[in-house]
Amino acid sequence: MKRVFSGIQPTGIPHLGNYLGAIRNWATLQADHDCVFCLVDMHSLTMPWEPETLRQQTLGSAACLLAAGIEPTRLYNQSAVSAHARLGWIFNCVSRLGWLNRMTQFKDKAGKNRENHSAGLYVYPNLMAADILAFHATRVPVGDDQRQHIELANDIAQKFNHDMGTDFFPEIEAFIPPAAARVMSLRDGTKKMSKSDPSEQSRITLTDTPDEIALKIRRARTDSEALPSEAAGLEGRAEARNLVAIYAAMADESIDATLQRFGGEGFGPFKTALADLLVESLGPVALETRRLLENEDHLLSVLRQGADRARSISEPIVQEAERLVGFLR
Ligand code: AMP
Ligand code: TRP
Repeated sequence: MKRVFSGIQPTGIPHLGNYLGAIRNWATLQADHDCVFCLVDMHSLTMPWEPETLRQQTLGSAACLLAAGIEPTRLYNQSAVSAHARLGWIFNCVSRLGWLNRMTQFKDKAGKNRENHSAGLYVYPNLMAADILAFHATRVPVGDDQRQHIELANDIAQKFNHDMGTDFFPEIEAFIPPAAARVMSLRDGTKKMSKSDPSEQSRITLTDTPDEIALKIRRARTDSEALPSEAAGLEGRAEARNLVAIYAAMADESIDATLQRFGGEGFGPFKTALADLLVESLGPVALETRRLLENEDHLLSVLRQGADRARSISEPIVQEAERLVGFLR
């Protein structure tokens, strides 16, 4: 059985992009894979943070993931398992500055003011490689924005293997959904839907009420033309394409199938149908999240048990990596 690893930053409530790009696939993969899912709280220190907010958001993200169908035994928070930090350090010393300099997510997040960002933000892809390889996971379900980080993880694994004269680390394969691997902001079709966008209206979160979902979809930016009847007609219409892609992914159908139904009409009826579809799928997740958040002790004990399991898988792997690099035990 192939091992799957994936992570999500507990930096805010998971949104529709996280759901379609990652979480929904995580839930499906559980049926026939050995899965490990991680709230990567160590990654959440790479940008400025507030301790109490991080605590609350880690619990909130745990509740959302469980509500979305992640099995409790497979979920834990990264900082509770020391394998991540230990292998992360080794990889800091295997990875090359030239490789990190090519990472587009660093360039996007650091912007013009690079000098003033944390060293953690810069080396974060090395830690991400360690997250995956500490479990010898070979399949990593992520959204399109993580493709480059997975390639880097493979470069690191290969260099480690080459330098230590071993074939210890396996090759990793990114598992990117065919549709909606990049869900865009509801306010600007050229920007990724993101937890850090200051506008609440830009994203649908997994705890939004039906009224909030309906309002955000009604207010979502569109253009003034009717919907086309086939996918080619969405060219150059970023907002329209995003909404249609969301509908198609939620309905598990092709973009052309969605357009056959709504093509030729204005956005009014389409938006109503989209809001209904989202409420139908995400409404129960939001309700269950709220229920789970009422019992913090239960959530903490779920994460603790998940961490025990994660430790038992990763500890022998990381100890072997430590032996290979020459550390004494
Ligand atoms: P993050 O919220 O950055 O920790 O991302 C967690 C997972 O969600 C990763 O697999 C991302 O690739 C995926 N993801 C984040 N934002 C989006 C988006 N706008 N569209 C599709 N997938 C996304
Ligand atoms: N870097 C990922 C993101 O920002 C989160 C992440 C951390 C991750 N470690 C991972 C994803 C390991 C997959 C595998 O979305």
